[in-house]
Amino acid sequence: MKLRTILLLSFLGWKSLVVFGNNEIKSGEIWKDDTGVHINAHGGGVLFHNGRYYWFGEYKSEDTSAALRGVTCYVSDDLVNWTNQGIALAVTDEQGSDIERGCTIERPKVVYNSKTQKFVMWFHLELKGRGYAAARAAVAISDRVEGPYTYLHSGRVNAGQLPANMNREERERMDKLQPDAYKEWWTPTWTQAVKDGLFVKRDLEDGQMARDMTVFVDDDKHAYHIYSSEDNLTLHIAELTDDYMAHTGKYVRLMPAGHNEAPAIFKKDGTYWMITSGCTGWDPNEARMFSAKSIWGPWMQHTNPCRGDNHRLTFGGQSTYILKVEGKPNAFIFMADIWRPKHPIDARYIWLPIDFEKDVPVITWREAWNPATYWK
Ligand code: DGJ
Repeated sequence: MKLRTILLLSFLGWKSLVVFGNNEIKSGEIWKDDTGVHINAHGGGVLFHNGRYYWFGEYKSEDTSAALRGVTCYVSDDLVNWTNQGIALAVTDEQGSDIERGCTIERPKVVYNSKTQKFVMWFHLELKGRGYAAARAAVAISDRVEGPYTYLHSGRVNAGQLPANMNREERERMDKLQPDAYKEWWTPTWTQAVKDGLFVKRDLEDGQMARDMTVFVDDDKHAYHIYSSEDNLTLHIAELTDDYMAHTGKYVRLMPAGHNEAPAIFKKDGTYWMITSGCTGWDPNEARMFSAKSIWGPWMQHTNPCRGDNHRLTFGGQSTYILKVEGKPNAFIFMADIWRPKHPIDARYIWLPIDFEKDVPVITWREAWNPATYWK
């Protein structure tokens, strides 16, 4: 926001924002930050800390989605006006570094650990020049919310660990699978084998793949890393250690062979709700929704929560995060990205309030809405 506007608003009162109309969320439009530039924080997540919202996301360039700068941070008091805090985690020019400029950094999420008093950033990392083959989860930390964050490590997840929701019978079935036996993908026998843990077995020794992801901190402060694993065919929910900086080894598989990515989660009245997408690259597809009474499942599938224009294609976007609005009961915002792969920096944002119909989440397309007045 410009100094002139700030002075005017201090004179007229902040409520005058209503008059000026700078108080609405308009999904799909250009969202200017305090410097007048479209916000560059894609695939992001929001952390509420000390009364302010911090939005972290992927910095995208004119012609590439590769990480040329790193993870950006913006801060806001009202979820509408955002101040650019710069680069929270910077890529490096050190050749061979995991986060060398030109690597792929996606879906960064920051959580605060009250025991260590550290801010912990998790993100999906792909090594420079290796496409999406590395499929690593990466972690960086900082003493300050806006950074700078120090990169710690990255890798596949939970090497040597079996899923907690695989019983003995299922384990025996998986043991009999031969990962090299399937020359053709997408056949019914191959799909059944994936369900039975074909890729869990393949990746058991080196660790499970981790691509699209989010991190969720529960009411009891336990944190979970939720990510697309097994070649994007199966989601995993994995427990993080008390300091949030590593995995404990406990994880479950969710919707084996269901082909879900872009997980976003929230909890309301003791029920966990997860919204995901299908896997169609940068193109939008129909959102999926799941619920469970325990983070470890069982999870059950619901119908698409989206309503209104273009609801079958998630309004042209793909889920990325569900933001809890502080100070208002049961107020949540569904965040999604409208990707622009040919002009990545021009990708747009969809932020819509989540309503509840008979306690089931519903997301209705709205051209413009005001988060200050939407919830009573
Ligand atoms: C969809 C994912 O959700 C994005 O984060 C990104 O990985 C693209 N696929 C790449 O095609």
